[in-house]
Amino acid sequence: MKVITKISDLQGELSHAREQGKSIGLVPTMGALHEGHAALVKQSVGDNDVTVVSDFVNPTQFNNQEDLRLYPRTLDADVALLEHIGADIVFAPPVEEMYPEPDTRQFDFGPLGEVMEGAFRPGHFNGVAQIVSKLLITVEPDKAYFGEKDFQQMVIIKEMVRQLALPVEIAGVPIVREESGLALSSRNARLSDEERARAAGIYRTLRRSLSFYPEKTPAEATRFVTETINNIDGLHVEYYEIVDAHTLQPVDDWRTAESIVGCVTVYCNDVRLIDNIRYK
Ligand code: PAJ
Repeated sequence: MKVITKISDLQGELSHAREQGKSIGLVPTMGALHEGHAALVKQSVGDNDVTVVSDFVNPTQFNNQEDLRLYPRTLDADVALLEHIGADIVFAPPVEEMYPEPDTRQFDFGPLGEVMEGAFRPGHFNGVAQIVSKLLITVEPDKAYFGEKDFQQMVIIKEMVRQLALPVEIAGVPIVREESGLALSSRNARLSDEERARAAGIYRTLRRSLSFYPEKTPAEATRFVTETINNIDGLHVEYYEIVDAHTLQPVDDWRTAESIVGCVTVYCNDVRLIDNIRYK
């Protein structure tokens, strides 16, 4: 496995692989890797001849400087994990390599970008699109892998790829959870044991809300999830939205969309956690 920090070195390495007719998979990450990231990497290793994992804490997607400062950075452990699971290239550039000058590009994802994370984290998806578009243009992968944990991100990346007509297939990978049900997240490292146990209530509640489908309404399910999670000490729901999985717009009737997901963001004290569940 190679650890590369420069775009020119990465492209040199990849053009060599491409000349040999090898397929390339890309897994974009911000490091602090866990078994959730590993699932994406393993899928790419299975699907492609060469797997590139980017490990880069992208400053332009943080709308909260404290969150950026506190974001865990564990490159040595990341490299060891990636080596173990068979990645071929780790791309871990310094900030100046990805942003030699400020990126002034503005993306517009319409209604997809206006709800949920788009509403609560202004500029977040623009920053995600800036870095992911640069990575896709630099690596030119056949396939790129995104976790369903960040459901809205995955939908927005698909839309970006469509808008830019990039020749890449976007693959979604199911959420990997702890035994308690808590979705794995780099931010979980900031939870105490007690907070972690409480945070398991998020997914437990989402699962219980499945019984609201189809007899009760999405509004009733929303109220149940919000109230139940808010009643757990230390947890506070920022939003719970039951949305059409394609348009990400809220549904008030289960029959109005063929596929429906409930997306939640919860503060566990000051740690922001996200999760989602599919109703149909
Ligand atoms: P990061 O939070 O590091 O996540 C990298 C990828 O791993 C994302 O596609 C995310 O959805 C996926 N992932 C994280 N936890 C997961 C879990 N428990 N189960 C399944 N997949 C999981 O998302 C980002 O980084 C950044 O926004 C990025 C796309 C890299 C752009 O900077």
